[in-house]
Amino acid sequence: MNKINILGIETSCDETSLAIVQNGEKVIAMVTNTQIEEFKDLGGVVPEMASRMHAQNIFYVYEALLKKADMTISDIDAIAVTQGPGLIGSLLVGINFAKTLAIEYNKKLIAINHMEAHIYACNLENEMKFPHLSLIVSGGHTEFIYMKDHLNFQKIGGTHDDALGECYDKVGRMLKLPYPGGPEIDELAQNGIDEYDLPYPLNDNTLDFSFSGIKSACHNLINTKQMKNEEINKENFAHSFQKRVLGVVNKKFDIALEKHDVIQASIVGGVSANSELRKRKTDKIIIPSIEYTTDNAAMIGSIGYFYYLENKFEDLIQFDVKVNLEIKHT
Ligand code: KG4
Ligand code: ZN
Repeated sequence: MNKINILGIETSCDETSLAIVQNGEKVIAMVTNTQIEEFKDLGGVVPEMASRMHAQNIFYVYEALLKKADMTISDIDAIAVTQGPGLIGSLLVGINFAKTLAIEYNKKLIAINHMEAHIYACNLENEMKFPHLSLIVSGGHTEFIYMKDHLNFQKIGGTHDDALGECYDKVGRMLKLPYPGGPEIDELAQNGIDEYDLPYPLNDNTLDFSFSGIKSACHNLINTKQMKNEEINKENFAHSFQKRVLGVVNKKFDIALEKHDVIQASIVGGVSANSELRKRKTDKIIIPSIEYTTDNAAMIGSIGYFYYLENKFEDLIQFDVKVNLEIKHT
């Protein structure tokens, strides 16, 4: 079989990540520069700072990647880059870098939807099988996607308001935890008990979610305690919150599996790094390794290969960022 090397580029938020992936499955090398430390005390990503740091770092990440892979640009068959969704300034840095390489070295360019790519993190450690049902849980999205085959995406459920990761991060901020709140709450919850009476978020039998109610309930409870000068036990609060949100997420994942006859399923995206969610991993249910759950370029290189096989290449002049890119229905 021909060996096709795709250079994946991911800069949609606060990770400058580049990877070389062979035939959609083998990570030859990946180098990621995360900006998380810069935003820890700022309560979240500051878009202008993020894009500036991408611009400062991307060339060095690229050089480090080629060195690590022991390759040159001539070993690369095509370049795949995140087109959206994401922060406009951050996306533009990756796209312009990809365009420059494509023009200078005469490479084909492939546009990647970041959310679709999260699902293809699965293909790096297991061969994806179809029909496949994926639950994407990240900072910006919470969706159920049904796939009949490669690159065939059908949204069968999702959030009406906040994404799961966004809800974790906002509650983290209310508890004055460093950004991002998700991993912090996960860790605190391990040592807590269910002390706080929070509501379960949209606990029905549909495949839809709504996290704004529990977010407001957290806000109100914390404010009331503060006004009465009462302490919040952060471990117990994290435990009660996580129990409610993941209780519903797990229940709906089971309903989705019951409703749709699939031979493989997955939980992907940043929140799939969560230690409770990771307990769902089985032979049938894939949860990528931690380095492939949060934003990374290996997943971009993986899905890029399947678009390469379909000859889906971009016009270098027309190619542009798509901040609100949705998953394509085919
Ligand atoms: O996929 P990702 O890296 O970026 C987006 O595409 O949004 O996801 C980041 C999200 C953040 O909201 C972060 O708090 C959450 O993933 N996250 C977690 C955990 N690790 C990361 N949420 C809960 N538990 C975790 N262990
Ligand atoms: Zn992501």
